[in-house]
Amino acid sequence: MIRSYLGNLSRARRKFTNSSIQRHGHIDPPKPGEELHVTFIDKDGDKHTFEVAKGDNLLDIAQANDIEMEGACGGSCACSTCHVIVQDPDVYDKLEEPDDDENDMLDLAFGLTETSRLGCQVKMSPEIDGIVVKLPSMTRNMQASDFEKK
Ligand code: FES
Repeated sequence: MIRSYLGNLSRARRKFTNSSIQRHGHIDPPKPGEELHVTFIDKDGDKHTFEVAKGDNLLDIAQANDIEMEGACGGSCACSTCHVIVQDPDVYDKLEEPDDDENDMLDLAFGLTETSRLGCQVKMSPEIDGIVVKLPSMTRNMQASDFEKK
């Protein structure tokens, strides 16, 4: 009885693992003629421009190209370590509005600005082709140790 239960459980687990694996920082190259462009300004002020595909988010693009963006929560909108500052307010206005979860996390971001967003929540689209984002000089990663008395 237990064996057959475990057997069923094992088969169920196998089904679960059939879904595709999401790798952080993995992006596919854009199709020819559909390239979009994004520029990151790093903490030293250096610019890095990439050709990317529609639907890629800024966290994955940064991590795939060794741009220093931590992404501590893996893009689940539960930290602020992917904080970026959109340089052009007109481009910022073309982005979808941040939802409540993103706004909550942005409130915790170091150096919040009027055009701040979480990189993991910004997906590339033709409307924002050429977007330029700056990485803040610091990010804040809330950990249990942050709340310990010193
Ligand atoms: Fe944590 Fe974007 S990686 S909110």
